Order: sequence, then C-alpha cells, then structure tokens
Amino acid sequence: MSQGTLSTNHLLGIKYITDDDIQLIFETANKFKEVINRPIKKVPSLRDVTIANLFFENSTRTKLSFELAEKRLSADVINFSSSSSSVSKGETLLDTVNNILSMKVDMIVMRHPAPGAHMFLANHIDAQIINAGDGTHEHPTQALLDAYSMRERVGPLMGKRICIFGDIMHSRVALSNIYCLTKLGAKVRVCGPPTLIPKYISSLGIEVSYNTKESLDWCQIANVLRIQLERQEIKYIPSLREYSLYYGINKKLLDSLDEKKIIMHPGPINRGVELDTDVADSEHSIILDQVENGVAIRMAVLFLLANKRGDKLSH
Ligand code: CP
Repeated sequence: MSQGTLSTNHLLGIKYITDDDIQLIFETANKFKEVINRPIKKVPSLRDVTIANLFFENSTRTKLSFELAEKRLSADVINFSSSSSSVSKGETLLDTVNNILSMKVDMIVMRHPAPGAHMFLANHIDAQIINAGDGTHEHPTQALLDAYSMRERVGPLMGKRICIFGDIMHSRVALSNIYCLTKLGAKVRVCGPPTLIPKYISSLGIEVSYNTKESLDWCQIANVLRIQLERQEIKYIPSLREYSLYYGINKKLLDSLDEKKIIMHPGPINRGVELDTDVADSEHSIILDQVENGVAIRMAVLFLLANKRGDKLSH
C-alpha cells in the first residue's frame, strides 16, 4: 500500500489539506478500489484501530460508506446516533466524545450540524477526527469522491470546466467541492438563484452565473445539489415548482445542448426539483459511481490517517 504521508493528522476540511494530500488520497483509493472489487474484499490494514462513527445529523450514504470502509479495513467499529443517546438529556458534545474516548477509541468520524464542531474537538481531544459533514461548512470526503469520480471520466481536472448547480448557500458539498476542484486546477462555476448564492463566493476564485442553460453549455461536468429546505429558516425561492422551472435539469434541456454532459449529484436527490428522473437515471449520470467510489476514498482517508497515529496530534 502507499508509502506517502498526509500533511495532516485530521481531515477537518479540504481547506486544510494540500494538493499533494489530495493526489495521495486518490492514488491510495485506486488501490482500495481494486481491493473492494475482489471476491474477498477485506484487508487487515486497521486491525488494531477502533473507530467511532458519531452522527448528530441524518445520513444514509456517508454513514454506511464509512462503516463499510472501516470494516473492509478490519477496524473495530462502534456507531453512535444522537437521537438514541444521552445528548437528548443535555450532555455536551465534549462530554459525549470524552466518554466515548475512555473506551479506548482511536479515531472519530463525525457529522454535526454546527460548522466548526470538528475543529473545536480537534483542539480539545487526542483522537483523530474525520469530518463527515459540519452544518453548511464542509463535507471533505464527499468532495474527494466527487473529484475522484470526475477524474475517472475526464482525466486530470486541470483546466476542466465544472459547474456546481443549486443551493450553494446551504451546501457543505459546494464549499468542499470548490476548495478541492480549484486546488486541482479546474475552472469552477456555481449556478443557481441569486438568493441561494452567497455574495462572498466569487472571492474563492470561481465564476458565478444565474443562467442554467448557459452554464450547462459552458461546463463539461454538472454537479447538481439538493435544495436544502431543512436549513432554510426563511423562504429563498417562491416555490419548488418555480425553482424546477428555472433551475431544474431535465432531459429536454440536456437534449438542447451541443455536447453530452456528465451529471453528478451527492444525494439525496429531490427528483423533479433539481434533477428529473429521466436525467438522474440516464447515461449522463454517474451518481452511483460516486457512491461506489465513496467507499474506496474513505478507506484511503482512514488508512492514511491511521498511518499518522503516534504523530503529535495537531492540524
Ligand atoms: N451525500 C451525502 O452526504 O449523503 P447522506 O446525507 O445520505 O450521507
């Protein structure tokens, strides 16, 4: 397995890792992708490592993908979900995590609604932390698996035109994608309603557009994001019907373009809102490849971070 070393002891966000870290994760994921396609999909790499998956927000893909990645690497795994825990009795995040760490846990994979929760923990505990999504901030393994899936289709991303469509304001996937794709040299654009695109976003070195057809024409790859109604305390769009009309991606729109586009979505999809079924399930879509690659990417991240155990923990 890979001889390289990450520059970090935690994965708190794509902002905090280097281009070399990303390339090393991709090279390591290539090897693990080969492993998980063998008849015997398990390797003993993390046999002496105990990992706690702490999910304070709902998840299907990320939670199962991390758990499978950990089991494929032979780690010992415990799972925590906030809804069935003593958090509902008023226990703090730090108390909860310190109690779990007393059970001799080495690594924490956590999803939490508060942006920066992982940075806070990394400053207060000794275990290694992997961010599985912190509110509207970052979702680093999603961005890594997205970029890895793009690379599989179009080769190195330097100079490639990639547009992220949808609710940029409330999306941790958007910010992590922007950091990851710009580090890899891609030309990045976001497209959506003006109310769902933060004003600061162009300071990250990307383009902004409010025109879906023109942006689809421009890009080679469209990464379509979900409208996150659960994070919208006020109305940012008049109705889902109107959103779908102006910003939804459907087959008629794709058929009107000169070139075939690659369509991605991190899931869960609001079918008929940001993406129509005849696109989500079409030959344009690589959505299930993204899910498959998620396991290999997470195996790579866990393996490379576990190799750093014993280094002084800091970020
Ligand atoms: N893509 C993603 O984070 O999906 P889940 O919320 O199901 O984990």
